[in-house]
Amino acid sequence: MKSLLELSFLGNEMSRPPVWMMRQAGRYLPEYRALKEKFSFLELCRSTELALEVSMQPIRRLDMDIAIVFADILLPLEGMGIEIDFNPGPVIKNKISSESDISSLTHGAGDSIKYVPEVISLIKGELQKIDTPEEAKKDVVGFAGAPWTLACYISDQGPYKWFHGTEVFAKSQRKAFHQMLEKITDVIGDYVVAQVEAGAGAIQLFDTWGGMLNAECYKEFSLPYLNKIFERIRKANCKSMLYINGSCHLLPLLKTELHADGISIDWRMQINDAIEQLGDKFLVQGNFDPSDLFSTPQDIEQKTSTMLNGVHRKSKYIANLGHGIYQTTPVENAKTFIESVKKGW
Ligand code: CP3
Repeated sequence: MKSLLELSFLGNEMSRPPVWMMRQAGRYLPEYRALKEKFSFLELCRSTELALEVSMQPIRRLDMDIAIVFADILLPLEGMGIEIDFNPGPVIKNKISSESDISSLTHGAGDSIKYVPEVISLIKGELQKIDTPEEAKKDVVGFAGAPWTLACYISDQGPYKWFHGTEVFAKSQRKAFHQMLEKITDVIGDYVVAQVEAGAGAIQLFDTWGGMLNAECYKEFSLPYLNKIFERIRKANCKSMLYINGSCHLLPLLKTELHADGISIDWRMQINDAIEQLGDKFLVQGNFDPSDLFSTPQDIEQKTSTMLNGVHRKSKYIANLGHGIYQTTPVENAKTFIESVKKGW
C-alpha cells in the first residue's frame, strides 16, 4: 500500500489531500522546548535518538500525514570545512568571501552527516508502527538547502535578511562564485541521494532566498544547480519538490525549465492561480499563511476550507503552510489547521 504522499505525486484522485507543516518539528511545541532546556540545537540534530524523538513529536500530537526529518539546511556544509553554529539563527564562523576561500572548500560532506539518513530510516520504522488506516499511510520527507540559499548563508556578512553581499559577490566574482555553487551542488546531491536510499518518500529543496533574484539571475545562479540535484533524485527513483519564498515572478521560468516533480507555493498568491500557471505537470503544495494561525479556530477552519476549495483538482496537491510555522503559534491552532484539512475538499 502506498503512502498518501506517494499517491499524491502519482496523480491519484484523493478524498482529501495529505497534510503537514513546514518546520513542524520545533519551538512551538512544549515537548520540544522541554528538550531544548537540556540539549543544544546541534546536539538534538546529531543524536539519532533525539532527532527521531523531535521528528515524531508533531506526528504524535497533531497526527499529520508526513514527517520531516529533524535537521537543518546548514548541516552538510560542515563536511565542506565550514564551521556552523546556531544562536538560535545560523552563525557561520569562517565566511567565504574570496576565490581562495572557495578553493579551500572540500568536496565531501558524506561521512560527517550520515546521521540524517539514519534518522530517516528510524522515522520510517516508527511510522510503520502507528496504527493508521491503510488509505492514509504516513511517510517521511527528506530535505536540503538549495545551493543558492546555502551560498547566501556562507558568503553574506548579514543581517540574514536581504543578502545583497551575496549578489555583489556573485556578480563581481562570477567564475569563482559558480565554482562554489558547483561544489555545494555535489555535496547536496550526495546528501539527498543518501536520504533517498534511507527511505525518504520525497525530497524537498529549500531555496528560501531564491525569490530575491529576478528570473534571469535565477536562471544563472540557482536553476541549473537545482536541476542537477533533481536529476540525481529522479535517477535514485524518488520524487522531488522545490520551495522558494517569494516565487510568484519565477513561476513561468519554473514551469518550462524546472526538473522537479512538485513546487511548494508561499502564502502570497491564490493556490489555484499557481496551479493554473504551472499546469498538470507539477504537484503543487501550500499555501496557508502561517500568520493566520494566530486567528480564531473558526477563522482558521474557514480559511483552510477556502484554500482547499480553491484547488480545482483532487490530485497532485499537498496541503501545507506557505512558509515555516512561527515559534509562537498556539499549538491548538496548528491542530485546527490539520484537522480542517482532514475534513476534506
Ligand atoms: O521542518 C522541520 O520541522 C524540520 C526541521 C528544520 C529546521 N530547519 C530546524 C530548525 C528545517 C526543515 C529547517 C530548514 C531551514 N533552516 C531553512 C529552510 C526553511 C525556511 O524556513 O525557509 C532555513 C532558511 C534554515 C536556516 C535556519 N536555521 C534559521 C533561519 C534558523 C533560526 C531561525 C528559526 O526559524 O528558528 C535556524 C535554526 C533552526 N532550524 C531551529 C530549528 C528547530 C531553531 C533552533 C532552536 O530550536 O533553537
